[in-house]
Amino acid sequence: MFRRPRRNRQSAALRGMATETHLSVQHLVFPMFVLDGQKMRSEIRSLPGTYRYSPDTLLYEIESCMHLGLSNFILFPAVADQLKDKTATYSWSPENFYLKTAREIKRRFPECCLISDVAMDPYSSDGHDGMVIDGEIVNDETLPILAKMSVAQAAAGFDMLGPSDMMDGRVGYIRQALDEQGFAKTGILAYTAKYASAMYGPFRDALDSAPKSGDKKSYQMNPTNKREALIEAELDTAEGADMLMVKPALHYLDVIHLLKEKSHLPIAAYHVSGECAMLRAACGNGWLDFDRAMPETLLSIRRAGADVILTYFAKEFAERFPEGI
Ligand code: PBG
Repeated sequence: MFRRPRRNRQSAALRGMATETHLSVQHLVFPMFVLDGQKMRSEIRSLPGTYRYSPDTLLYEIESCMHLGLSNFILFPAVADQLKDKTATYSWSPENFYLKTAREIKRRFPECCLISDVAMDPYSSDGHDGMVIDGEIVNDETLPILAKMSVAQAAAGFDMLGPSDMMDGRVGYIRQALDEQGFAKTGILAYTAKYASAMYGPFRDALDSAPKSGDKKSYQMNPTNKREALIEAELDTAEGADMLMVKPALHYLDVIHLLKEKSHLPIAAYHVSGECAMLRAACGNGWLDFDRAMPETLLSIRRAGADVILTYFAKEFAERFPEGI
């Protein structure tokens, strides 16, 4: 045998030299849930180890992440039912606790990268990402609402906005509104290939944001489709997206790979709540070892081509692997 692949695996030093994929905390974004109030930290039933924070405890948590070198966050608000309505007016209200919280975070930690989700569902009495008229999730009437929400978030200091609503034309519409209002520097992390997935369950528990009727299949992508992701990628790119995202991540590694090959923009992948919950459950039962399964999982997403990974395990990764892997 002239060729023996095992020769390169003999020692840690050799394996180190032959390492193809690296992952460090700078690639990670930590999704966090915010609720109004004080001194609160409530665990999400279907995603143990992940919490909803009131603004004061959230600031402590962000500080402790920053000490670990984890400085990228995406926030989601848990809004009280009585503040939800058909047109998501609370999303741009000057009273909005979420916007006030963002302002405070950027005041305390100007060096962090703060990202906001853009979609109507946390604020909508219908629990849909777009406006509902006579049972239909209407596209064009939703765009001005998303633009208003985006401008309010940019004004609150968010560095990037992540439209997750999957309405057609929203990236360009939001880009234009931001530019007109003087927010040319605010970036757009487009949820480009967001699938109508069963993996969002714990997230909807966290925000109590499940659709009141119907499902999201008329706007989120069909899980059978891969080439269609290229159409979304072309549009988001032409409309001014700064990064493209695939969501979920683990069940769509082929789509991550495809977009990485076809696009020159940074590719992000969202390791979503249900995907994290699966691993938590197996590890909680003692069936898998978290300290090994977690980094292997994140590496698979990176190897598929993700530059950036949004994961509920971001802080635990930072704690365990301060030097990266
Ligand atoms: C809302 C939104 C969802 C997620 C991110 N933004 C849920 C949905 O589309 O129903 C899911 C994230 C996760 O499951 O971790 N537009």
